[in-house]
Amino acid sequence: MNVLVIGNGGREHALVWKLKQSPKVERIFIAPGNPGTAQLGTNVPIAVEDLEKLAQFAVENQVGLTVVGPEVPLTLGIVDEFKRRGLRAWGPSKAAANLEGSKVAMKEFLRRHNIPTAAFKIFNKAADAHAYITEVDGPLVVKCDGLAAGKGVTVAKTADEAHAAIDRIMVAHEFGAAAGRQVVIEEILKGEEISVFAFCDGRNAVLLDYVQDHKQVHDGDEGPNTGGMGAFSPVPGLVRQKDEDEMVRRILVPTMSGLLHEGRPYVGLLYMGLMLTDGGPKVIEYNVRFGDPECQALMLRLKTDLVTVMEACLDGTLDTVDLDWHPGVGICVTLASGGYPGKYPSDVPISGLPATMPATTTTDQAVVFHAGTKEKNGQLLTAGGRVLSVCALGSTLDEARARAYAACDAIQFTGKHCRRDIGKRTEARKAR
Ligand code: AMP
Ligand code: GLY
Repeated sequence: MNVLVIGNGGREHALVWKLKQSPKVERIFIAPGNPGTAQLGTNVPIAVEDLEKLAQFAVENQVGLTVVGPEVPLTLGIVDEFKRRGLRAWGPSKAAANLEGSKVAMKEFLRRHNIPTAAFKIFNKAADAHAYITEVDGPLVVKCDGLAAGKGVTVAKTADEAHAAIDRIMVAHEFGAAAGRQVVIEEILKGEEISVFAFCDGRNAVLLDYVQDHKQVHDGDEGPNTGGMGAFSPVPGLVRQKDEDEMVRRILVPTMSGLLHEGRPYVGLLYMGLMLTDGGPKVIEYNVRFGDPECQALMLRLKTDLVTVMEACLDGTLDTVDLDWHPGVGICVTLASGGYPGKYPSDVPISGLPATMPATTTTDQAVVFHAGTKEKNGQLLTAGGRVLSVCALGSTLDEARARAYAACDAIQFTGKHCRRDIGKRTEARKAR
């Protein structure tokens, strides 16, 4: 079967690497891909938003399975568009992807189905939002309705910060006029924040092993938030059995059945951002795709054939699939451009990448996925804030870390920055 993967980040490179291991895959195309994916398949210069061209390409190249990495094409309806043409695309429909596309629609969905979440109000006029913030006069969370590349949420400690967030979203339209037409204002939840991933086939959901991201740019969770500075899996001690059971019963099952009953069954990967509060797990957000860099750490550990899992999602037969995980530890360290997540230079030459890329998971070699790179006259250059995802598997956390950081140290580019404490949270938790 020919496979098309949509996207161009570290997540998509990891998906391509894992899909290519499947005996079911003949050719693999990536739109638009990056220099890393070009080593594993054929990059196709079509933008992720160009649904028409992507579908046409899939028809012309007998693509049997299209795997959608990022949220934007999903919220634009790529899965529906492909279905109309008799093509199979793995991911949620436009209606189901609206869980990530609109915070307002997501909160209303949670309320309709009595799924635990932060108490909230929705506003469509800046003046009303300001009046409410003045009335509460305390910490609040302000959320822009539409997609805002991860920047639309302000956890405001003071009313002044909340007022400023309303002005940025609804008056200055920092995230665009449509995304800023409505805002959600909600209570701050306290507890440990976790991400839970599940493969879904519309009716059944299968939890993946736990994985944790490191969002802040500096060690010890200091500094501004980023797209993700690293991840590790599994995460021992993160979720007690009681919390997992409650999460499945009160969140995952009602989410699946709520969407099914609303005529928009969820197919693909559901990413639940949860807070483990004193009152049990509560939904902070849903994402309708894999996390990046969580996906990279997970793909290193997943033993099950990914094509088989994705086909089961599409066929509604996930209940016949068991996920098999490498028992060791997978870690992913992001090598970022100097200055990220603020301003950073581009086109900086990169050297020192491992000469070979292991074709399958092995415990003796690091696996380097490309995130923000490009190639010019045979020279690899930086082309983004997050440049490379340096991953390794080990039988212990220390082994995985040593292997990944040795590869990180060998790679050179001016301004290179990474966190040195990826995975260390496990020890902090043990010490608690
Ligand atoms: P979101 O895009 O909704 O995930 O929000 C981004 C980040 O803001 C989350 O990962 C949380 O760390 C934080 N956040 C969002 N909503 C809340 C909340 N109600 N209470 C505390 N933190 C929150
Ligand atoms: N790593 C967080 C995300 O992909 O949203």
